[in-house]
Parts: sequence; C-alpha cells; structure tokens
Amino acid sequence: MSLQGLTIQNETTELCHRRSKRCWRAIGVFMNIVFIGAPGTGKGTIASRLKEHGFTHIAPGDLFRKEAKKGTALGKEVKGRIEKGILIPDETTTALVKRYTSKNNIFDGYPRTLPQAEALDSFAKPDMVLFFDMSEQDIVERLSGRRTCPDCHAIYHTKNIPPKKAGICDNCSTKLVQRKDDMPDVTRHRFHVFQKQTAPLIELYTKRKLLKKIDASGTPDEVYVSVKALLRLK
Ligand code: AP5
Ligand code: MG
Repeated sequence: MSLQGLTIQNETTELCHRRSKRCWRAIGVFMNIVFIGAPGTGKGTIASRLKEHGFTHIAPGDLFRKEAKKGTALGKEVKGRIEKGILIPDETTTALVKRYTSKNNIFDGYPRTLPQAEALDSFAKPDMVLFFDMSEQDIVERLSGRRTCPDCHAIYHTKNIPPKKAGICDNCSTKLVQRKDDMPDVTRHRFHVFQKQTAPLIELYTKRKLLKKIDASGTPDEVYVSVKALLRLK
C-alpha cells in the first residue's frame, strides 16, 4: 500500500509502510475521509486545499456538472435535477463515485443518503467523517457570493475569497460563473434536502464514533488548520 504524497507528522509512519491498513489507522493516518455539510459550508474549498497532502478530491457535484457541460448522456440526465437542487438517484451517484475512487480519498458530498452510506462501506470504508457545521444565515450569505470556474472547478467568493482579477479564474483565466443552484430559492431547497436526506448520516456516523464536528464559520485558513489538526497533517 502506498501513501505517496501524504505529509504526516508522525515519524513512525515509515515503520508502517509495509504493514496493514489497521497499522496506518492505529497511528492516525486516515485514508477515506467523508465531508458532510449543508450546501455552502466550505467542503469543496477545504477539500481542494487538501489535495496538497496527496488526497484525491471526489465531489459528485463537480463530476455531474462536468458531465453536464460536456453534454454526455449522464450529463443530460442529471442537469435539470442539479439546477433544481434535487439529489441524483443513489445508483447513478455511487457508480460515478466508484469510478474515481483511489487510495486516499476525500469524499466531498458523498454519501448524502443512507443507501449511499451503505454502498460506500462496500468499496471504501470511511476512516473519519467531518461534519461542517454552520448556521443557515451564514450559508445563504456565502452562496450568494460564490463564483466557480467551470473548467478547473476553483471556488471563489466575491467578498471572502475574491480572484486576483474580478470574474476571472486565477488558475486558468476562464470566466467565472455563478452556479444556477446558488439562486436563493434553490439554495433554500438544497438546505431542506440536506436536513431531510443527509442529516440522518450524522447520527449514523456518531454512533460509529467516526464523526468530528468542524466549526465551518471561521476563515478558510482557520477551518483548514482545524481540519488538518484532526487529520494529523502538518
Ligand atoms: P454539490 O456541488 O456537492 O453542492 P453542495 O453539497 O450543496 O455543496 P456546495 O458545493 O454548494 O458547497 P460547499 O460546502 O462545497 O462550499 P464551497 O467550498 O463551494 O452538489 C450539487 C448537486 O449535485 C446536488 O444538489 C445534487 O443534485 C448533486 N449531488 C451531489 N452529490 C450528490 C450525492 N451524493 N447524491 C445525489 N446527488 C448529489 O464554499 C461556498 C462559498 O463560500 C464559496 O464562495 C467559497 O469561496 C466561500 N467560502 C468557503 N469557505 C469559506 C470560509 N471559511 N469563509 C468564508 N467564505 C468561505
Ligand atoms: Mg462543493
């Protein structure tokens, strides 16, 4: 098993290189991390930053939008639902996530239902689940200012995390867009979908002693420091 690229504080990790998954877990190295949180709580922002530690960032929302942009059969199937803030059927979502699952994964927005949680157990059992906690009022404020790059998926905020040049992606110079599902009505609907369909997972993972709560209302740097501390990363 290789954990290439992971930056880990604990020097004993070297000893574990040729050992079992249980050994990695015993010293606090987590390989399958789940991010749960209502829309706009900063899951994607933090998951993107964790890529510098060798994680694969798997965000079904980004993957579906990519398919929709390319106009594939899957993209056509899911476009309307995404824009309305309705979840995609479990089987379709799980099949897509499975295709991208690698060794050290951040599952950003998966699972979102109990059947998805059951499915994830069968191909990448979670080692830790981070719940991004924030008030509904802060969420609405954040989502109204979000701008995203349709090409590289970089995430900005008109006030909190502005790009260097207004409306243009720092990474690839593509024109930034506002997601259709960030309109206030759809945002509210997505929040209710989260409470109804995803919130039960908080109880499930609490019972399994995997859940850690993150105060997602801090600055991106503050949240990133808290997440790295939980994952024992430098
Ligand atoms: P998805 O794209 O996953 O949307 P979401 O979960 O609703 O989450 P968001 O991407 O809106 O928010 P985020 O937490 O990533 O916040 P971000 O970092 O961008 O899903 C979209 C759709 O796809 C779903 O509605 C569904 O149709 C489908 N889908 C996806 N997964 C599915 C699944 N498992 N099953 C079925 N269907 C599925 O940050 C938000 C804003 O705040 C940004 O502007 C950012 O710059 C700013 N910001 C971030 N952090 C901070 C901070 N600390 N301080 C200040 N500003 C910040
Ligand atoms: Mg996101």
